[in-house]
Amino acid sequence: MSSIVLGVAGGIASYKSAELLRLFTESGYDVTVVPTRSSLNFVGAATWEALSGKPVQADVFEHVDEVPHVRIGKGADLVVVAPATANIIAKAAHGLADDLLTNTLLTARCPVVFAPAMHTEMWEHPATQANVATLRARGVIVIEPAVGRLTGADTGKGRLPDPAQIYAVALNVLDGTDRARDLVGRHIVVSAGGTREFLDPVRFLGNRSSGKQGFAIAEAAIARGARVTVVAANVTVEPPAGIDLVRVVSTEDLRQQMLALATEADAVIMAAAPADFRPASYVDAKIKKRADGQTPQIHLVENPDILVELVATRAHKLPVIVGFAAETGDETASVLDHARAKLERKGCDLLVVNDVGSGRAFDQSDNEAVLLGADGSVDHVPFGPKIALGHAILDAVAQRLDR
Ligand code: CTP
Repeated sequence: MSSIVLGVAGGIASYKSAELLRLFTESGYDVTVVPTRSSLNFVGAATWEALSGKPVQADVFEHVDEVPHVRIGKGADLVVVAPATANIIAKAAHGLADDLLTNTLLTARCPVVFAPAMHTEMWEHPATQANVATLRARGVIVIEPAVGRLTGADTGKGRLPDPAQIYAVALNVLDGTDRARDLVGRHIVVSAGGTREFLDPVRFLGNRSSGKQGFAIAEAAIARGARVTVVAANVTVEPPAGIDLVRVVSTEDLRQQMLALATEADAVIMAAAPADFRPASYVDAKIKKRADGQTPQIHLVENPDILVELVATRAHKLPVIVGFAAETGDETASVLDHARAKLERKGCDLLVVNDVGSGRAFDQSDNEAVLLGADGSVDHVPFGPKIALGHAILDAVAQRLDR
């Protein structure tokens, strides 16, 4: 079983790392906790020793005969720093080595994940952002903080993601170490969920997309070192940790966000199901039943095709653009025939084809698909977890980014 170093920096969120530690140890991982001195003001060494079953030290001048400042880092398969404060991020970015954790970060040659937690102002400060960019450029996975209640009465971006979410990122990173972290330094934009088109304040036209596949792609991309933005339309599942999340409702909202983000993305993956039509007009007051029994006539107009617009507006070869096709076969053509025609129509680089006959694909945890490339490639991804399909899509994206 892999060895994990859990670095704990001096933030109030360090109490949540006790839960993270339990998740690791209960799964059988061998965990060495390396707290910073200031973090011991929040959670004491006794807690870490009891939960990890190992002695814990913050300084390099204890047990010097065991050379802990080299041994711990070199023996690790993964280092997770949670919470990562602005201070530890700055020290790591500049290669300081004034305690055991910073020494460990310099000696570790394994993947490193930082889960930042701090006030919004500190996170957004240009110094922190520059340090985060330095770490990411070096291949460190710095996941995005969550948005929510902070230490005081304030709310904003800077919360430590839930321990279970950090745990999921860590497992994906351990899983993906052989994928050579091929998306480090890349920005991947994914759309997820299904858009809604409102008729009146309470009713809408929508669809069954849950957002699971889009989030699974995002999770896989995080594990491969990418910076990930997900534009999520009415998703019904929890977003993974570490993504930048932009919530939208309608196809027009989704369109605006995707077109703006595509200008600086390396890849855009349209996993969302945008509503193809919207009511021609929106009624401000709830539409009432009529006494004469007549039913309302709803006129629909077509929504813009975001994927087609993304292709039409891209500069040169970037971003790599991936579309999805939910298809059913019929008497005129097979699922793949329909999909090939769609790939041609949409003009994207890759089309992920789901056979949705008999309710498959929607709201399920597992999926199977065929990846059709504009270059003529055809890859069948067998039935399996959506994260595996996410990795298969990203394999194809990474290949195209390298061309
Ligand atoms: N898509 C989009 N904008 C739309 C509709 C769809 O960008 N208004 C994208 C989806 O996100 C998906 C791809 O286009 O990546 C294919 O979606 P699908 O619904 O299968 O295609 P349609 O163009 O709606 O084709 P069909 O005529 O089969 O419904």
